[in-house]
This record gives sequence, structure tokens and C-alpha cells, in this order.
Amino acid sequence: MANVTVIGAQWGDEGKGKIVDWLASRADAVVRFQGGHNAGHTLVIDGKTYKLSLLPSGIVSGTLSVIGNGVVLDPWALRDEVAKVEGQGVSITDENLAIADNCPLILPLHRDLDGLRETAAGKGKIGTTGRGIGPAYEDKVGRRAIRVCDLAHLDTLEPQLDRLCAHHDALRAGFGQPPVDRAALLEELREIAPFVLRFAQPVWKRLKKVRRAGAKILFEGAQGVLLDVDHGTYPFVTSSNTVSGTAASGSGLGPNSTGFVLGIVKAYTTRVGSGPFPTELEDDIGQRLGERGHEFGTVTGRKRRVGWFDAVLVRQSCAISGVTGIALTKIDVLDGLERVKICTGYRLRGKVYDYLPSHAADQADCEPIYEEMPGWSESTAGARSYADLPANAIKYIQRIQELIECPVALVSTSPERDDTILMRDPFVD
Ligand code: GDP
Ligand code: IMO
Ligand code: MG
Repeated sequence: MANVTVIGAQWGDEGKGKIVDWLASRADAVVRFQGGHNAGHTLVIDGKTYKLSLLPSGIVSGTLSVIGNGVVLDPWALRDEVAKVEGQGVSITDENLAIADNCPLILPLHRDLDGLRETAAGKGKIGTTGRGIGPAYEDKVGRRAIRVCDLAHLDTLEPQLDRLCAHHDALRAGFGQPPVDRAALLEELREIAPFVLRFAQPVWKRLKKVRRAGAKILFEGAQGVLLDVDHGTYPFVTSSNTVSGTAASGSGLGPNSTGFVLGIVKAYTTRVGSGPFPTELEDDIGQRLGERGHEFGTVTGRKRRVGWFDAVLVRQSCAISGVTGIALTKIDVLDGLERVKICTGYRLRGKVYDYLPSHAADQADCEPIYEEMPGWSESTAGARSYADLPANAIKYIQRIQELIECPVALVSTSPERDDTILMRDPFVD
């Protein structure tokens, strides 16, 4: 298996960016295949921090970075991010960045609608990142999207704008908003077009060539399986499929290209935004984990909700996404706890469940059944070999492995790139 597909196996922010960056030096291309700039992937290399939202995490190590057709692309956000990352000394050219020319665009009107809907929903809000992700995916499926390739044909955009604006003007009127300013939109598109078109191409063709040459492709998922629009905690999810299968459809390669599916799993659980969270901790331990783990959103700065490790959810995610092995991250955040708990099942109206039921109300009522284990007082922070881990940390990792029915391939012990323990190499397995 030459390729590796990295996906989040919880509610996002599992540490995908760190692991993708660590693997990227051995890959020939890193491909984002879904989501958009709702993602926030953090890389720490020799003390220097890079925060990426749209750019694939291979960009910092100079690996060919590809934004696939499954992504929704905000061209203005991309330009800002490219400027920011270039300001940190990373070179971004049409040699190391390629963007699918069939990628749908996120426009200012999508961001507007995301905000209007969330405000109108009041207590029922999803707690989106406000980046226009949902509305942009709706327009893609509704066949109203403006895509990257349209930027080369702005003189003939009129009929597409008619369709797009007929839809949005009606929605905006419902929210008491003025119609879309078409002239201003067209002008903004004209202004940004050359920047995007420099990188635009049929990336499926580029990837086909890479693959034929026997090269290794690393697919970089965003969000996590529990935010998947089908399999997640619907409706408190994002608007794309975050499971491993999307790597194929979101990049233009076949289903046999995904290779080793590496599920990224945090050693406890976090979630940003609304929705059910059975193992959520609203006590001192939750507070402590949140502080030690710096659990604040990379994109919005919101405080992440924190809870114990939920083996039921991760087992479900691994099954749904065909995970070959996991990377267990942030084990160091649990250092110093006297006892640690793992959720092994749910109690719901007198019945025991070994999976998360589909209905939102049932999910909200699931009460966790815990197994307790002794914690460890020694530090795991910065450990680079399995032998350096305290015995109780090893027991915790082994118990997780058993409960989720999936092997641990990597363990991460700090935000730094090289503070990573390799147990099973995803590229050669
Ligand atoms: P992503 O969205 O999955 O890429 O994850 P984020 O970057 O949003 O959040 C993960 C956070 O944890 C970032 O601040 C990382 O630098 C940090 N991180 C990653 N792995 C580890 C680890 O093993 N230990 C600690 N303490 N922090 C980590
Ligand atoms: P990474 O790739 C964590 C969450 C939002 C909200 C829901 C819908 O960094 O793991 P959206 O803006 O996508 O319509 O919001 O999804 N969300 C994330 N949570 N990590 C992410 O990405 C997320 N991307 C979206 O908080 O609950
Ligand atoms: Mg993140």
C-alpha cells in the first residue's frame, strides 16, 4: 500500500495537521479532498507554529500540495492564507500547489447566509465556523455553484449568475436582506481570478501521472467522522462526507487509491459547536484537560468542549471509515491524572447500547458507562519511543486498542513534529 489516507475519527481537531506534516516528508503529494477553511490544522516545527486552513499540510515541507474537487474554496481566504504562510518563509508556487479547476467557490453570499441562518436558529444553532461551508455545498449539489474554471470565463457568467442569484435573492428577502449586488460580485471575482487561475488545473490528471510513476499520495481529511453529514451526529455536523471514501471522489482517483486509512484519535474527546457529547466533563478535570491541551479552536478561537475518551464512538468511526490503524495523539495531556476513564457503552432508557444511535434526541440522552483505570504520574511529553512511556500509559493505550478493535500505528506526545512514536509504518504496511 503506497498511499495513506488520514482522517479524524472524532469531532475534529484530533491532531491531523501534525501527523500529516510528519508523514509528508515521505510522500510525493498531499491532497485535501473535502471541507474548506472551516478546518484548522496546526503544525509545530522546531518551535515555529503554522496554522493551515485550506492549504494542505504538505506545503510546509515543500511536498506537492493539491486542493481537490471535493473542497469548497474561498479564494479570498486562500489568498490571505498564502500571504500569511509565505510570510513565515514558506515558498508557494504553481510547482508545489495545484487546485482542482472543478472546485466550487465559497462566495461572500455564502458567508452571509451561514451567519443569517445561525442567528435565526437561536438555541437550535449548529455552531458553525461561519465560513459559508454549508451554503456553498448546497449550491454545488443544487447545480448553482460558480467553480474555479468559471474564473477563466467571467464574460459569459451571466446565465449562471442568474440561477445563483434567483435562489439567493429569494432567501435573502426572507431574512430581510437586500438582493445580491451582482456587479460588485463580478468585480470581486475579476479581481481574484488571476491569483486562483495560476494554480488551477485538472488535478485528477496530475494525480494520475503521480500515481503512474509509483509515487506515494497522502490524503489529508478535515473535520472528523462524527461531523460527517451522513454518519455524524446529524444535524450537528458539517456539510461534507468526512469519511475515508471521500478521498477518492474528492480528488478524482478511484476507490482503490486510498491505501492505509490512518484514523487520528485524541487520547480524550473534544468537540466545538453544538450537539450531543455523552462523555463531556463540566467539572475541574474537564477544565484541567482543556487548559493542558490548549483546547481552543484554531479557526474561531472558541473554547472546545472536553470529555473522557469514548471508545464506543471511536470503534464506530473506525468501522464506518475502514480505518487500518490509528494515531493516538495528546496522550501527554493526561499526564498526572490519578485515574482515567474510558466510555465502553451507553445506557439509554434502561437499555445498554454498544453504538451511538442515529436519532439526535437518543444521542443526547445516552449516558456513558465507564471503565476506570489508574493514571500515571510520570511525564509522557516528548517521548519518542514506546519504551519511554510509563507502564500505566501503555496499559491505557493497549486497552483503547482492544476496545476500538483497531491497532495503534502511531502515538503523539507533543505538538512538535518529531515527538512521535512509530509502531507500524502506514506507508509500508
Ligand atoms: P487538526 O484539526 O486535527 O489538525 O488539529 P488542531 O491543529 O486543530 O488541534 C490539535 C492541537 O493539538 C494543535 O494545537 C496541535 O499543535 C496540538 N497537538 C497535536 N498533537 C499533540 C500531542 O501529541 N500533544 C499535545 N500536547 N498537543 C498536540
Ligand atoms: P478540523 O479539520 C472541529 C464543526 C463546527 C460546527 C460544525 C459545522 O480542524 O478538525 P461548518 O462551519 O463546517 O458548517 O460547522 O462542524 N467543525 C469543526 N470542528 N474541527 C474542524 O475541522 C471543524 N470544522 C467544522 O464547529 O460544530
Ligand atoms: Mg483543527
